[in-house]
Parts: sequence; C-alpha cells; structure tokens
Amino acid sequence: MIFDPVTISGFSSQETPFYYYDLTLLHKTLLACKSASDKYDFHVHYALKANFNEQILNAVKNAGFGADCVSGNEVKKAIEIGFDKAKVVFAGVGKSDKEINEALDNDIFCFNVESVQELSIINELAGKKNKKARIALRINPNVDALTHQYITTGLEENKFGINQWELTTCTEVLKQSSHLELIGIHFHIGSQITDLDVFKSLCVKVNEIHNWFNDRGFQLRVLNVGGGLGVDYHQPDQNQIVDFEQYFKIFDQFLERRPGQEIHFELGRALVAQCGSLISRILYVKNGLKKNFIILDAGMTELMRPALYQAFHKIENLSRRENSNTIKYDVVGPICESTDCFGKEVELPESERGDLIIIRTAGAYGEVMASGYNLREHVKSVYSC
Ligand code: LLP
Repeated sequence: MIFDPVTISGFSSQETPFYYYDLTLLHKTLLACKSASDKYDFHVHYALKANFNEQILNAVKNAGFGADCVSGNEVKKAIEIGFDKAKVVFAGVGKSDKEINEALDNDIFCFNVESVQELSIINELAGKKNKKARIALRINPNVDALTHQYITTGLEENKFGINQWELTTCTEVLKQSSHLELIGIHFHIGSQITDLDVFKSLCVKVNEIHNWFNDRGFQLRVLNVGGGLGVDYHQPDQNQIVDFEQYFKIFDQFLERRPGQEIHFELGRALVAQCGSLISRILYVKNGLKKNFIILDAGMTELMRPALYQAFHKIENLSRRENSNTIKYDVVGPICESTDCFGKEVELPESERGDLIIIRTAGAYGEVMASGYNLREHVKSVYSC
C-alpha cells in the first residue's frame, strides 16, 4: 500500500466518491516513457481518450508528448491545453464532416483514415478549403492482441481500419486525390496487451505492409504502431511503472526503419492508469448466510470497467489496514443494475459503514467513462502535489 496515514486522513475530510491522482507518480511515469522513447528517437502521442482531465493533460503536454485524438472535441481540447498542432493526430472510424472541417482549419499533423470512403470525403472537404490534408492509412493487420475481446481492434472481424485487400483501391483513390498527402501507415491492434510477443508479430506485419507500399513507389514518412501497452492491475505497488525500456526495444529490434522515417506510438493506459484511484465510502454492509456485501457510494457510473469488461481492479480498505481478521465480500455500487459490481469474493478486513475503500489502477478509462445514469453527479477529482 503506497498511501501514508497523512494522505489517508486527508481523504477522510473529502466528500466521496472521488478520483485521487498521484501527480508525482504521473510525472515519474511520463519521464520514464520519455527517456526510453527518446533513446530511439521515437515519437509518443498520448491517447487523450484514456484520461482528458486537465491536470493530467497539462502534465503530459509539459513532458513533451503529442496528442492522439478520436473526436473533434478531443482535438479542440488538445489545442486549448497547448499541445503543438504539429503533434496532434486525429483517428476514429466515424469522423463527422464538422469534425474533419475543424481539424482541417486547425492544420493538425495528420488524419488516421479508417476507410476508403473516408479518403474521398477528406479529399473533398480539404478541396473546398483549398488545403492538402496529411493522412495516414489505418490498416487492420489481422494480428491477435491476445487481450479481452471487447478491447481487441486489429482483427478482420473488428470495425477498425482498412483491410489489406482494400489497399490497392486506396492507392488508386490516392492517385486521384489532389488534396491528400499520404504520409504514413497506422496500426492499433488492441489495448491492455501484456504479452509483449504480440508487438513482435505486429512489427513483422508492419514491415510486410511497409514493403508493399515501397514496391509501389510510396515513400512513407511515418510508421505509427498505435498503443496498447498493458499495466499490472493485480500488483499495482510492485509494478507502478511499466517497463518502457523493454517495450520500445522490441520496436527498435523488429521494425524495419528506413532513413529519415519517424516511428510514432499512441500510448494511453500505460501512462496514466496507475496514478489514479477511485476512493469511495462504505454506505452499508450486508452480512448474509452465503454472501456478504459491501455497498459503496461509488458505482459503475464512476468506474465502468468492471461492469463493461469484467475488468479486475484491486480493492483495499484504507480505514482498517492493521486488522487481520478478513472476510470475503462482494463489493458493489448503488446503481440499479446487477452488473454494478466492482469485485466478487474480495478478501478484505472486516469492514464497517463509513470505511474508506480504494479501487486501484483507475487512472485510465475511469473518470472519462463516467456516466450520469440514475442522474448521478459527475465524480470529483483530488490531486496530490
Ligand atoms: N490508439 C488508438 C487508435 C486507440 O483506439 C487506442 C485505444 C489507443 C491508441 C490507446 O490505447 P492504450 O495505450 O490506452 O491501450 N475502455 C477500454 C480501452 C479502450 C481502448 C480504446 N482504444 C478499457 O477500459 O480497457
């Protein structure tokens, strides 16, 4: 447990539930990533979708990262925060005309294009503005990320990206599109990838597709390999910071880079997951014959991952650290849904109404996925200095 008694007594005076962000850990994580990627001159864009809380965004921007956006509002937000427009990329399978137009007006670095039809639309909209849009083709490499099916994106059965049999059509469309400049190829095969061999397979596939373009006379300036690096949800204290060195080394070893070419990454979770926790208070304890329940004042409306992906998050009782008498509880929220459960049969010290509960590794895809279901208030945030 990383929390000292002073921090915990600070929590006691706060209204719950709230997200707690350890900004010192965030800075350390960003620094570790930056120094490991700088070693190979790799460019990292932070995937805003993981957490677009302004304090987090400012820290990420100040550490020198670019921004990977998936909506017009994310593009706007990144620019407002002060990310360099030349480091803003815009991906997404369903960009609206309004979103494309605004991104064109902002002269962002690149659109990651996800379908043949989108190519024609961006060409048409850029033409009306007499501009040339820089684009990268998001290609579906059909590589299995070996992660949860709901966060797998790089298989042919997924909606994302352009399939390989459509690439010839793409090159034909590109030849007739005077308002598009193809600068690279883009891949993202899924999230929470913990088997690093998956990234080796991705490199092999990228090399193959890269050669295909080269053979057809397309010189690509950028190879974008996406994000997906996983974190340790089970042992957050032992593995607070991901092994970025090992991760980037794989791409240095297995990706064939031509002179002058840039390698881009889009990391989200690996940068922000461990610095965030959800803090909640026990409202009620129900002791049953077969099951005991802890009912929290936080629910799936504050942290959706367990309900949506059966995701595991470590749960601890901050108020009873010394108590050795443990009991198994189902830790649930107050929302009127059976899936509103943070963990089943969680072994915790015997707990009481009013105890503070912490749900760990919630900095990525936590606060940003909160909803107003049941007319819940938007969850607050508290920061360490
Ligand atoms: N690039 C693209 C094109 C993406 O779609 C994503 C995530 C990323 C980068 C960043 O991936 P990361 O490094 O964070 O794995 N809500 C789910 C995760 C959804 C991921 C969506 N795409 C969860 O809570 O597990």
